[in-house]
Amino acid sequence: MRPTVILKAALTLDGQLAAADGTSQWISSPEARRDAHRLRGSVDAVMVGAGTVRADDPRLTVRLGQHETPAPGQPRPVIVAGRRALPPQARLLGRGPIILAPGPLEASGRVIEASVIEAPGPRGEAVDLEAGLIRLPALGVESLLLEGGARLFRSFLDAGLADRGVLYYGPLLAGGTGRPLFRGTWTTLEDAHPVRVTSVRRLGASIRVDIDLHP
Ligand SMILES: NC(=O)c1ccc[n+]([C@@H]2O[C@H](COP(=O)([O-])OP(=O)(O)OC[C@H]3O[C@@H](n4cnc5c(N)ncnc54)[C@H](OP(=O)(O)O)[C@@H]3O)[C@@H](O)[C@H]2O)c1
Repeated sequence: MRPTVILKAALTLDGQLAAADGTSQWISSPEARRDAHRLRGSVDAVMVGAGTVRADDPRLTVRLGQHETPAPGQPRPVIVAGRRALPPQARLLGRGPIILAPGPLEASGRVIEASVIEAPGPRGEAVDLEAGLIRLPALGVESLLLEGGARLFRSFLDAGLADRGVLYYGPLLAGGTGRPLFRGTWTTLEDAHPVRVTSVRRLGASIRVDIDLHP
């Protein structure tokens, strides 16, 4: 059995994840970010792709107000790595992450304490996500918050591996194409994924939309 997967993203009102230069902090309002931290606090692990590690160097910790939840209560970080080396100074590498990788990790010049799961996809460049996910419960991960980025979101959507989504729409219009929520092209209407909206809530200047991805 794989963990339950919740896809979470902050979007502009016109559906963009980040600007063309990769900047995305902060698209949503402080109220939405607080809510997102509570969501983090409700799962065993938080996952991002190597592209997000390179662009944002996130911490993925639960921080509510001035307080950071003590380490034992923090969700475990999970990184989906590719064939390129991860930045050795990345903050997540100091948090004992689980790393899903297509093969042995390239030496980074830093001693990293991590649980590495090798799960090569068919061409050996990317991770076979389903094969990686089913090995997570043995490491105590039964619920997972998927926090990006666009390429990883697309892989999860295409593989049907995300169960539900929490989308925070911030009070911004991108006004053009930067980075869409899902990498890739939407070719024709019938390729769209039907979802069920299960709730809509206002959080300060943002809107939280919950969706069931397997209606
Ligand atoms: N607004 C938000 O909520 C939010 C949240 C997170 C990120 N972001 C933004 O998203 C951008 C980063 O997204 P991104 O698309 O460039 O990168 P990404 O989705 O974070 O990571 C993609 C990378 O993961 C590795 N990978 C290995 N197996 C994979 C698989 N099966 N499927 C997909 N990826 C796999 C590859 O690494 P290699 O490249 O090493 O091969 C791939 O390039 C940044 O601009 C960031 O600011 C926004």
